[in-house]
Amino acid sequence: MNDKINQLNDLKDTAFTEIKNAQSLVSLDNVRVQFLGKKGKLTEFLRGLGNVDSVERPLIGKAVNDVKKSISDEIDRSFSVTKKLESEKKFHTEKIDYTLPGKVRSLGKAHPIAMVLDEALRIFSYMGFAIKEGPEIESEHYNFEALNIPKLHPARDMQDTFYVDEDILLRTHTSPVQIHVMEKCDPPLRIVAPGKVYRRDSDITHSPMFHQIEGFMIDTDVSFADLKGVLTTFLKELFGEDTALRFRPSFFPFTEPSAEVDITCVMCNGKGCRICKGTGWIEILGAGMIHPEVFKSVGYDYEKYTGFAFGIGVERIAMLKYRIGDIRLFFENDIRFLSQF
Ligand code: FA5
Repeated sequence: MNDKINQLNDLKDTAFTEIKNAQSLVSLDNVRVQFLGKKGKLTEFLRGLGNVDSVERPLIGKAVNDVKKSISDEIDRSFSVTKKLESEKKFHTEKIDYTLPGKVRSLGKAHPIAMVLDEALRIFSYMGFAIKEGPEIESEHYNFEALNIPKLHPARDMQDTFYVDEDILLRTHTSPVQIHVMEKCDPPLRIVAPGKVYRRDSDITHSPMFHQIEGFMIDTDVSFADLKGVLTTFLKELFGEDTALRFRPSFFPFTEPSAEVDITCVMCNGKGCRICKGTGWIEILGAGMIHPEVFKSVGYDYEKYTGFAFGIGVERIAMLKYRIGDIRLFFENDIRFLSQF
Protein backbone atom coordinates (compact mmCIF):
# COMPACT_ATOMS: atom_id res chain seq x y z
CA MET A 1 0.00 0.00 0.00
CA ASN A 2 2.79 2.41 0.90
CA ASP A 3 4.24 1.73 -2.50
CA LYS A 4 1.06 2.92 -4.20
CA ILE A 5 0.78 5.99 -1.97
CA ASN A 6 4.40 6.89 -2.82
CA GLN A 7 3.65 6.53 -6.55
CA LEU A 8 0.63 8.78 -6.08
CA ASN A 9 2.66 11.44 -4.27
CA ASP A 10 5.27 11.34 -7.05
CA LEU A 11 2.48 11.89 -9.60
CA LYS A 12 1.20 14.85 -7.60
CA ASP A 13 4.71 16.38 -7.35
CA THR A 14 5.25 16.01 -11.11
CA ALA A 15 1.86 17.61 -11.81
CA PHE A 16 2.64 20.58 -9.51
CA THR A 17 6.05 21.08 -11.17
CA GLU A 18 4.43 21.05 -14.61
CA ILE A 19 1.76 23.51 -13.49
CA LYS A 20 4.48 25.81 -12.19
CA ASN A 21 6.40 25.59 -15.50
CA ALA A 22 3.32 26.18 -17.69
CA GLN A 23 3.64 29.65 -19.20
CA SER A 24 0.32 29.99 -20.94
CA LEU A 25 -3.37 29.06 -20.70
CA VAL A 26 -2.89 26.54 -23.50
CA SER A 27 -0.05 24.72 -21.75
CA LEU A 28 -2.04 24.70 -18.48
CA ASP A 29 -4.88 23.07 -20.31
CA ASN A 30 -2.47 20.47 -21.66
CA VAL A 31 -1.40 19.66 -18.07
CA ARG A 32 -5.06 19.23 -17.12
CA VAL A 33 -5.62 16.74 -19.94
CA GLN A 34 -2.35 14.93 -19.22
CA PHE A 35 -3.19 14.32 -15.53
CA LEU A 36 -6.97 14.57 -15.14
CA GLY A 37 -8.23 13.70 -18.62
CA LYS A 38 -10.06 10.50 -19.57
CA LYS A 39 -6.80 8.91 -20.67
CA GLY A 40 -4.73 10.89 -18.14
CA LYS A 41 -2.15 9.63 -15.67
CA LEU A 42 -4.55 9.43 -12.72
CA THR A 43 -7.03 7.31 -14.65
CA GLU A 44 -4.19 5.09 -15.71
CA PHE A 45 -3.12 4.80 -12.07
CA LEU A 46 -6.67 3.84 -11.02
CA ARG A 47 -6.72 1.12 -13.67
CA GLY A 48 -3.59 -0.39 -12.13
CA LEU A 49 -5.40 -0.95 -8.80
CA GLY A 50 -7.14 -4.12 -9.98
CA ASN A 51 -4.95 -6.48 -7.92
CA VAL A 52 -4.85 -4.33 -4.75
CA ASP A 53 -6.20 -5.88 -1.56
CA SER A 54 -9.94 -5.15 -1.15
CA VAL A 55 -9.36 -3.70 2.35
CA GLU A 56 -6.79 -1.21 1.03
CA ARG A 57 -8.70 -0.29 -2.12
CA PRO A 58 -11.05 2.31 -0.53
CA LEU A 59 -8.11 3.98 1.27
CA ILE A 60 -6.11 4.27 -1.95
CA GLY A 61 -9.27 5.39 -3.79
CA LYS A 62 -9.71 8.22 -1.29
CA ALA A 63 -6.05 9.21 -1.65
CA VAL A 64 -6.47 9.32 -5.46
CA ASN A 65 -9.51 11.60 -5.11
CA ASP A 66 -7.60 13.92 -2.74
CA VAL A 67 -4.70 14.15 -5.20
CA LYS A 68 -7.13 14.74 -8.08
CA LYS A 69 -8.76 17.60 -6.18
CA SER A 70 -5.50 19.26 -5.19
CA ILE A 71 -4.15 19.08 -8.79
CA SER A 72 -7.43 20.47 -10.10
CA ASP A 73 -7.44 23.32 -7.53
CA GLU A 74 -3.83 24.16 -8.33
CA ILE A 75 -4.57 24.28 -12.08
CA ASP A 76 -7.60 26.56 -11.46
CA ARG A 77 -5.56 28.88 -9.29
CA SER A 78 -2.73 29.05 -11.82
CA PHE A 79 -5.27 29.49 -14.64
CA SER A 80 -6.70 32.68 -13.15
CA VAL A 81 -3.24 34.11 -12.39
CA THR A 82 -2.00 33.37 -15.93
CA LYS A 83 -5.17 34.75 -17.47
CA LYS A 84 -4.72 38.02 -15.62
CA LEU A 85 -1.06 38.21 -16.66
CA GLU A 86 -1.90 37.48 -20.31
CA SER A 87 -4.52 40.20 -20.51
CA GLU A 88 -2.20 42.71 -18.81
CA LYS A 89 0.52 41.83 -21.33
CA LYS A 90 -1.94 42.21 -24.20
CA PHE A 91 -3.06 45.57 -22.86
CA HIS A 92 0.52 46.89 -22.79
CA THR A 93 1.73 45.45 -26.09
CA GLU A 94 -1.31 45.72 -28.42
CA LYS A 95 -1.81 48.98 -30.25
CA ILE A 96 -5.12 50.13 -31.71
CA ASP A 97 -4.91 51.69 -35.15
CA TYR A 98 -7.60 54.34 -35.12
CA THR A 99 -7.08 55.05 -38.82
CA LEU A 100 -8.31 51.58 -39.89
CA PRO A 101 -11.67 51.65 -41.66
CA GLY A 102 -14.56 50.47 -39.44
CA LYS A 103 -16.31 47.15 -39.96
CA VAL A 104 -19.53 47.89 -41.82
CA ARG A 105 -22.36 45.55 -40.87
CA SER A 106 -24.69 44.81 -43.74
CA LEU A 107 -28.24 45.76 -42.87
CA GLY A 108 -31.16 43.51 -43.68
CA LYS A 109 -34.08 44.87 -45.65
CA ALA A 110 -37.61 43.95 -46.57
CA HIS A 111 -38.13 41.28 -49.26
CA PRO A 112 -39.60 42.72 -52.50
CA ILE A 113 -42.77 40.66 -51.99
CA ALA A 114 -43.15 42.07 -48.46
CA MET A 115 -42.65 45.57 -49.88
CA VAL A 116 -45.38 45.10 -52.49
CA LEU A 117 -47.70 43.58 -49.87
CA ASP A 118 -47.16 46.56 -47.55
CA GLU A 119 -47.79 49.06 -50.34
CA ALA A 120 -50.94 47.26 -51.52
CA LEU A 121 -52.36 47.02 -48.00
CA ARG A 122 -51.59 50.69 -47.42
CA ILE A 123 -53.65 51.64 -50.50
CA PHE A 124 -56.57 49.45 -49.45
CA SER A 125 -56.41 50.85 -45.90
CA TYR A 126 -56.81 54.35 -47.37
CA MET A 127 -59.95 53.09 -49.10
CA GLY A 128 -61.35 51.94 -45.75
CA PHE A 129 -60.56 48.20 -45.93
CA ALA A 130 -59.68 46.40 -42.68
CA ILE A 131 -57.01 43.66 -42.70
CA LYS A 132 -57.81 40.08 -41.63
CA GLU A 133 -55.80 36.86 -41.86
CA GLY A 134 -56.82 33.22 -42.11
CA PRO A 135 -55.15 29.80 -41.74
CA GLU A 136 -52.85 28.39 -44.45
CA ILE A 137 -53.91 24.83 -43.56
CA GLU A 138 -57.57 24.54 -44.46
CA SER A 139 -60.35 22.00 -44.63
CA GLU A 140 -61.92 21.15 -47.99
CA HIS A 141 -65.06 22.80 -46.66
CA TYR A 142 -63.53 26.28 -46.39
CA ASN A 143 -61.24 26.01 -49.43
CA PHE A 144 -63.85 24.54 -51.80
CA GLU A 145 -67.30 23.52 -50.62
CA ALA A 146 -68.38 26.74 -48.86
CA LEU A 147 -67.18 28.55 -51.99
CA ASN A 148 -69.61 26.63 -54.17
CA ILE A 149 -66.94 24.19 -55.45
CA PRO A 150 -68.40 20.76 -54.55
CA LYS A 151 -66.39 17.51 -54.77
CA LEU A 152 -65.64 16.52 -58.38
CA HIS A 153 -66.29 20.08 -59.64
CA PRO A 154 -63.92 20.71 -62.60
CA ALA A 155 -62.73 24.00 -61.01
CA ARG A 156 -60.81 21.84 -58.50
CA ASP A 157 -58.53 20.68 -61.33
CA MET A 158 -57.09 24.17 -61.74
CA GLN A 159 -56.32 24.34 -58.05
CA ASP A 160 -54.60 21.06 -57.31
CA THR A 161 -52.73 21.33 -54.04
CA PHE A 162 -50.80 19.59 -51.27
CA TYR A 163 -53.00 17.43 -49.04
CA VAL A 164 -52.13 17.01 -45.36
CA ASP A 165 -54.94 14.50 -44.87
CA GLU A 166 -57.94 13.37 -46.89
CA ASP A 167 -59.91 16.46 -45.95
CA ILE A 168 -57.11 18.83 -44.90
CA LEU A 169 -55.03 20.75 -47.41
CA LEU A 170 -52.77 23.75 -47.93
CA ARG A 171 -55.16 26.45 -49.12
CA THR A 172 -55.06 27.15 -52.85
CA HIS A 173 -56.31 30.72 -52.56
CA THR A 174 -57.15 33.32 -49.91
CA SER A 175 -60.89 33.10 -50.70
CA PRO A 176 -61.61 30.83 -47.65
CA VAL A 177 -60.93 33.91 -45.48
CA GLN A 178 -64.19 35.32 -46.93
CA ILE A 179 -66.06 32.43 -45.30
CA HIS A 180 -64.24 32.70 -41.95
CA VAL A 181 -65.02 36.43 -41.74
CA MET A 182 -68.65 36.12 -42.93
CA GLU A 183 -69.27 33.38 -40.34
CA LYS A 184 -68.15 35.73 -37.56
CA CYS A 185 -69.27 39.18 -38.73
CA ASP A 186 -72.36 40.73 -40.27
CA PRO A 187 -72.32 43.24 -43.17
CA PRO A 188 -71.34 45.93 -43.94
CA LEU A 189 -67.84 44.52 -44.51
CA ARG A 190 -64.79 45.90 -46.27
CA ILE A 191 -61.90 43.46 -45.81
CA VAL A 192 -58.51 42.62 -47.33
CA ALA A 193 -56.82 39.35 -46.40
CA PRO A 194 -53.19 38.83 -47.42
CA GLY A 195 -51.33 35.52 -47.18
CA LYS A 196 -49.50 32.54 -48.65
CA VAL A 197 -51.27 30.04 -50.89
CA TYR A 198 -50.15 26.76 -52.48
CA ARG A 199 -50.73 25.00 -55.80
CA ARG A 200 -49.29 22.29 -57.99
CA ASP A 201 -47.84 24.87 -60.40
CA SER A 202 -44.34 25.76 -61.53
CA ASP A 203 -42.99 27.84 -64.44
CA ILE A 204 -41.67 31.37 -64.98
CA THR A 205 -44.96 32.99 -63.94
CA HIS A 206 -46.28 30.25 -61.60
CA SER A 207 -44.85 29.23 -58.26
CA PRO A 208 -45.97 26.33 -55.98
CA MET A 209 -46.15 28.83 -53.09
CA PHE A 210 -47.19 32.38 -53.77
CA HIS A 211 -49.09 35.24 -52.12
CA GLN A 212 -52.55 36.56 -52.71
CA ILE A 213 -54.54 39.44 -51.32
CA GLU A 214 -58.20 38.65 -51.03
CA GLY A 215 -60.52 41.62 -50.95
CA PHE A 216 -64.26 41.83 -50.49
CA MET A 217 -66.94 44.35 -49.78
CA ILE A 218 -70.49 43.46 -48.73
CA ASP A 219 -73.39 45.81 -48.12
CA THR A 220 -76.96 46.38 -49.26
CA ASP A 221 -76.07 48.16 -52.49
CA VAL A 222 -72.67 47.03 -53.71
CA SER A 223 -72.43 46.76 -57.51
CA PHE A 224 -69.96 45.71 -60.20
CA ALA A 225 -69.27 49.44 -60.72
CA ASP A 226 -67.91 49.57 -57.13
CA LEU A 227 -65.64 46.63 -57.91
CA LYS A 228 -64.32 48.36 -61.05
CA GLY A 229 -63.84 51.61 -59.15
CA VAL A 230 -61.91 50.04 -56.27
CA LEU A 231 -59.65 47.93 -58.51
CA THR A 232 -58.98 50.75 -60.99
CA THR A 233 -58.08 53.13 -58.15
CA PHE A 234 -55.83 50.49 -56.60
CA LEU A 235 -53.96 49.62 -59.81
CA LYS A 236 -53.51 53.22 -60.91
CA GLU A 237 -52.20 54.13 -57.44
CA LEU A 238 -49.75 51.23 -57.59
CA PHE A 239 -48.58 51.44 -61.22
CA GLY A 240 -49.30 55.07 -62.12
CA GLU A 241 -52.19 57.00 -63.72
CA ASP A 242 -51.37 55.81 -67.28
CA THR A 243 -51.78 52.12 -66.47
CA ALA A 244 -54.18 50.40 -68.84
CA LEU A 245 -56.31 47.61 -67.43
CA ARG A 246 -58.95 45.37 -68.94
CA PHE A 247 -61.70 43.30 -67.40
CA ARG A 248 -62.20 39.99 -69.21
CA PRO A 249 -65.28 37.85 -68.58
CA SER A 250 -64.27 34.76 -66.66
CA PHE A 251 -65.66 32.07 -64.40
CA PHE A 252 -65.27 31.37 -60.71
CA PRO A 253 -67.87 29.18 -58.95
CA PHE A 254 -68.00 31.64 -56.02
CA THR A 255 -68.71 34.81 -58.06
CA GLU A 256 -71.31 35.70 -60.68
CA PRO A 257 -70.57 37.50 -62.92
CA SER A 258 -66.81 36.90 -62.78
CA ALA A 259 -63.89 38.68 -64.40
CA GLU A 260 -60.15 38.44 -64.72
CA VAL A 261 -58.20 41.67 -64.71
CA ASP A 262 -55.10 42.13 -66.84
CA ILE A 263 -52.74 45.09 -67.03
CA THR A 264 -50.41 46.06 -69.85
CA CYS A 265 -47.25 43.97 -69.81
CA VAL A 266 -44.59 46.42 -68.64
CA MET A 267 -41.78 44.22 -70.01
CA CYS A 268 -42.79 44.88 -73.62
CA ASN A 269 -45.20 47.81 -73.21
CA GLY A 270 -47.97 45.69 -74.60
CA LYS A 271 -46.13 44.55 -77.75
CA GLY A 272 -46.05 40.90 -76.74
CA CYS A 273 -43.14 38.98 -75.18
CA ARG A 274 -42.19 35.71 -73.49
CA ILE A 275 -43.56 36.91 -70.13
CA CYS A 276 -47.02 37.83 -71.43
CA LYS A 277 -46.94 34.89 -73.81
CA GLY A 278 -47.22 37.26 -76.79
CA THR A 279 -50.53 38.83 -75.69
CA GLY A 280 -49.27 42.19 -74.39
CA TRP A 281 -51.31 41.67 -71.18
CA ILE A 282 -50.60 40.03 -67.84
CA GLU A 283 -53.34 38.60 -65.66
CA ILE A 284 -52.99 39.81 -62.09
CA LEU A 285 -56.28 39.08 -60.42
CA GLY A 286 -59.61 37.33 -60.46
CA ALA A 287 -62.79 39.03 -59.28
CA GLY A 288 -66.58 39.12 -59.40
CA MET A 289 -69.83 39.61 -57.54
CA ILE A 290 -70.14 37.17 -54.62
CA HIS A 291 -72.38 34.24 -55.59
CA PRO A 292 -75.70 33.89 -53.66
CA GLU A 293 -74.67 30.27 -52.89
CA VAL A 294 -71.74 31.61 -50.85
CA PHE A 295 -74.05 33.93 -48.90
CA LYS A 296 -76.37 30.97 -48.34
CA SER A 297 -73.53 28.81 -46.96
CA VAL A 298 -72.81 31.39 -44.23
CA GLY A 299 -76.46 32.22 -43.53
CA TYR A 300 -76.51 35.74 -45.04
CA ASP A 301 -79.75 37.06 -46.55
CA TYR A 302 -78.81 36.96 -50.25
CA GLU A 303 -81.92 38.99 -51.21
CA LYS A 304 -80.74 41.83 -49.01
CA TYR A 305 -76.97 41.88 -49.47
CA THR A 306 -74.68 42.10 -52.47
CA GLY A 307 -70.91 42.14 -52.52
CA PHE A 308 -67.84 41.92 -54.67
CA ALA A 309 -64.64 39.94 -54.12
CA PHE A 310 -61.23 39.78 -55.75
CA GLY A 311 -58.00 37.79 -55.37
CA ILE A 312 -54.75 39.48 -56.40
CA GLY A 313 -51.52 37.61 -57.25
CA VAL A 314 -48.86 39.53 -55.31
CA GLU A 315 -45.85 38.03 -57.16
CA ARG A 316 -47.38 39.02 -60.51
CA ILE A 317 -47.64 42.60 -59.27
CA ALA A 318 -44.06 42.54 -57.99
CA MET A 319 -42.87 41.12 -61.35
CA LEU A 320 -44.51 43.99 -63.19
CA LYS A 321 -43.50 46.67 -60.72
CA TYR A 322 -39.84 45.65 -60.61
CA ARG A 323 -39.68 44.19 -64.15
CA ILE A 324 -38.70 40.70 -63.06
CA GLY A 325 -38.84 38.11 -65.81
CA ASP A 326 -38.95 34.94 -63.70
CA ILE A 327 -41.09 34.44 -60.56
CA ARG A 328 -38.60 31.90 -59.17
CA LEU A 329 -36.03 34.65 -58.53
CA PHE A 330 -38.14 35.82 -55.58
CA PHE A 331 -37.62 32.52 -53.77
CA GLU A 332 -33.99 31.67 -54.53
CA ASN A 333 -32.76 33.95 -51.72
CA ASP A 334 -29.82 35.29 -53.70
CA ILE A 335 -28.67 38.33 -51.71
CA ARG A 336 -27.36 40.00 -54.92
CA PHE A 337 -30.88 39.88 -56.36
CA LEU A 338 -32.72 40.81 -53.18
CA SER A 339 -30.50 43.79 -52.28
CA GLN A 340 -31.47 45.63 -55.49
CA PHE A 341 -34.90 46.67 -54.23
C1 FA5 B 1 -58.27 32.70 -57.55
O1 FA5 B 1 -57.39 32.21 -56.84
C2 FA5 B 1 -59.53 33.24 -56.97
N1 FA5 B 1 -59.65 32.84 -55.59
C3 FA5 B 1 -59.53 34.73 -57.10
C4 FA5 B 1 -60.87 35.34 -56.81
C5 FA5 B 1 -61.12 35.83 -55.55
C6 FA5 B 1 -61.85 35.38 -57.78
C7 FA5 B 1 -62.37 36.39 -55.25
C8 FA5 B 1 -63.08 35.93 -57.51
C9 FA5 B 1 -63.33 36.43 -56.24
P1 FA5 B 1 -56.89 32.55 -59.75
O2 FA5 B 1 -56.64 31.09 -59.70
O3 FA5 B 1 -57.10 33.13 -61.09
O4 FA5 B 1 -58.14 32.93 -58.85
O5 FA5 B 1 -55.66 33.30 -59.04
C10 FA5 B 1 -55.68 34.70 -58.79
C11 FA5 B 1 -54.34 35.32 -59.16
O6 FA5 B 1 -53.28 34.65 -58.48
C12 FA5 B 1 -54.00 35.17 -60.63
O7 FA5 B 1 -54.58 36.21 -61.36
C13 FA5 B 1 -52.49 35.26 -60.63
O8 FA5 B 1 -52.08 36.61 -60.58
C14 FA5 B 1 -52.12 34.63 -59.32
N2 FA5 B 1 -51.65 33.24 -59.47
C15 FA5 B 1 -52.40 32.13 -59.72
N3 FA5 B 1 -51.62 31.03 -59.73
C16 FA5 B 1 -50.38 31.45 -59.46
C17 FA5 B 1 -49.10 30.79 -59.28
N4 FA5 B 1 -48.98 29.48 -59.35
N5 FA5 B 1 -48.01 31.56 -59.02
C18 FA5 B 1 -48.12 32.89 -58.90
N6 FA5 B 1 -49.26 33.58 -59.02
C19 FA5 B 1 -50.38 32.86 -59.30
